[in-house]
Formats: sequence, structure tokens, C-alpha cells
Amino acid sequence: MKGLILTAGNGTRLRPLSQTKPKPLLPVANRPVISYGIEQLSNLGIQDIGLVIKPQQEELFRKSLHAYTNKNVRIHYIYQQEPKGIAHAVAQAEDFIGSDPMVLLLGDNLIDEPLDLIQESFQKESTHGTVMVTEVSKPEDYGIAKIKDNKIIELEEKPKEPKSNLAVIGAYMFQPTIFKAIHAISPSARGEYEITDAIQWMIDQGYTINHVKTTKPTFDVGTIDRWLEANQWMLKHYSRTTDDDFIDSKTDGSVIIPPVDIGENCTIDNSVIGPYVSIESDAIVKNCVLKNSILLKGSHLENIPYEITDSIFGEKAVIVGLDGDEEVMHLVFGDESKVIITNDRTKKHDNTE
Ligand code: G1P
Repeated sequence: MKGLILTAGNGTRLRPLSQTKPKPLLPVANRPVISYGIEQLSNLGIQDIGLVIKPQQEELFRKSLHAYTNKNVRIHYIYQQEPKGIAHAVAQAEDFIGSDPMVLLLGDNLIDEPLDLIQESFQKESTHGTVMVTEVSKPEDYGIAKIKDNKIIELEEKPKEPKSNLAVIGAYMFQPTIFKAIHAISPSARGEYEITDAIQWMIDQGYTINHVKTTKPTFDVGTIDRWLEANQWMLKHYSRTTDDDFIDSKTDGSVIIPPVDIGENCTIDNSVIGPYVSIESDAIVKNCVLKNSILLKGSHLENIPYEITDSIFGEKAVIVGLDGDEEVMHLVFGDESKVIITNDRTKKHDNTE
């Protein structure tokens, strides 16, 4: 059995952060999203994991994942020259997978359910494919399954009028029959080779496809709000904050409200940090109030007169107040950056496009 993780999408809804880092390398609780998937595959005993990447990102992946692989796991880099959909990405791994069954993960999905659930069902029922489904509140954003007599009879990618609220999420198991299906399908209306179309082709040809349902949390870290939600959840459930090890820098004169995760070599001074804040290494935070936010490596926030909440700061982003009674702002604002200034705490990024 082999593992395959897809990483080469464009991440348009996470710009500008996804312009410098592929989505699966963005941190959740200070670890790249994809590192959780690698760990889950390794927990299943899988030793060979293929990562489908954009060719120019190999170095970045190698560097970022070094700390999260162990001697039992071999990572194989597989190139996808153009992002033409999930099924197209899977097709690039045909030689790597060979005649083995595979566990396929989407690199930007966080799934709490251990993968044993999918593996046991796949093996017990000797199917050609097993998908994991979960109930979602916005079915129009997902691949949606219509189930009758406990069998999937129809799959539809991001339907305008969803026939159920059961979404197929980013964990699948397949026999190599999936490659036959991918070669048989055509691009969808949005120009992508859809995994849902490939699975539908298998159903139509009479191959058995079954499903398992998870009621545990799942996150598709595809938008700013969902990324913050995933970070919040991960900090809450797996945080080290009850244990000082989770704060790897000095936090003199600051109030820390758990759960938080602070990396190495940060300067945290006279600030209120938390709850739900993760700060990567080398950041500077002075005289700030920070809640539910993510700071990437080397970001610098100082003397900010407002509470900062639901916010993300990219690597080496700088916001500094100089006088304490500021009236003027000088901004260097990169492409597709966004600032929302509000008294309305319910305002979310995803509905202020
Ligand atoms: C993809 C799949 C979709 C699936 C979703 C899970 O969509 O195409 O079938 O439900 O992942 O996150 P994406 O969000 O990548 O467009």
C-alpha cells in the first residue's frame, strides 16, 4: 500500500499568503498542514508516500518537511506541470503507485478521524474505492454524494442545488482501477479533471465504491476563515499550552491566555496573547493585544492601539506604531492584501471578498 498527497493547487482563495508558500505548507498550530497527513499515513504503516508538487517547489517542500519525516517514511516527489485538477494530479503518480492500492489525501485537508476507518472498510469489503464523507453546512463548496440503501449512487462536484449535505472529503482509498477511470473522463465545466467524475465513472462501470462517515472534525484549509478555524481547533485539542514546552520563547511582562503556541527566538513583550494564537519563530510582538491569529516567521507587531483578532501576518510582515497617539498610516500593501477595520465582531474574511 502506498500513500499519495496532492499539493499542487493554486490556492487562489488564500492569496496573498499562498503566493509565496503552497497551501499545504501553511502552518496550523505552527506545523505545516501537510505534516498531519504524513503522520496519519505513517500511523497506518505506509512507508512510501508520493507528494504531487509543482516542479519549482521541491526544494521548499524538502526543507519544510525535513523535521516531520522519520526513518520509516520515504517521500517521493512527483511533478504536476500544470494544476489541472485532482484527478489529473493523481494521474501523474501512475508509475509510482504501480499495482498497489493507495491512500489518497488532499494536502490542504485536516481530518481528525484516524485513517484506519477507511482502510478497514476498504479491505473488509474489497472495493475498488472507499471515500470518506461528512455532513457539511455549505454543500455547494464540496463534492457531494447522493446515497441510497447505504450505497453512493451519484457524486456531484460543487453542485448549485445539492442533493444532500454529505461531502466527500480529502481522504480516499483506491485500487489502481482509478487510473483507468481518470483516463476515461474529460475536463469539467471549470476545466479540471475532477476526482468526483472519476469515481462516478467507476460507479457507472459497476465497480464497487463504498463510503465511511466521520463525525469528527474535518477542515479544508482553503480560505482565511477556515484556516483560522483549523488553527483554533488544533490549538484547543492538541496544544502544549498546559505545558510550558509550547512556549519556546521568553514572554516577559506579557499575559498569555491559553491555548497558544509560540515558536523559538521570539520577542514577546508587554502584550496580551491569546486565546488561539500561534506565532512562528523569530517574531516580535510588543505592546499588542492579540487573539485568534496566526503570525508567520519573523513578523513584527509593535505598539498597535487596536485589539488584533482573526488576523494572519505573513513572513516578515511589519506593523509598527511609532508615537502611541498615531493619526497617520504609512502602508506598503502587497497584491491582494486585506485589512478589515470594524466594530462588528461577527464580520468574517470569507464574506468580505
Ligand atoms: C476538492 C474536491 C471536492 C472535495 C473537497 C474536499 O475541492 O474537488 O470533491 O469535497 O476538495 O475538501 P476543492 O476545495 O479543492 O476545490
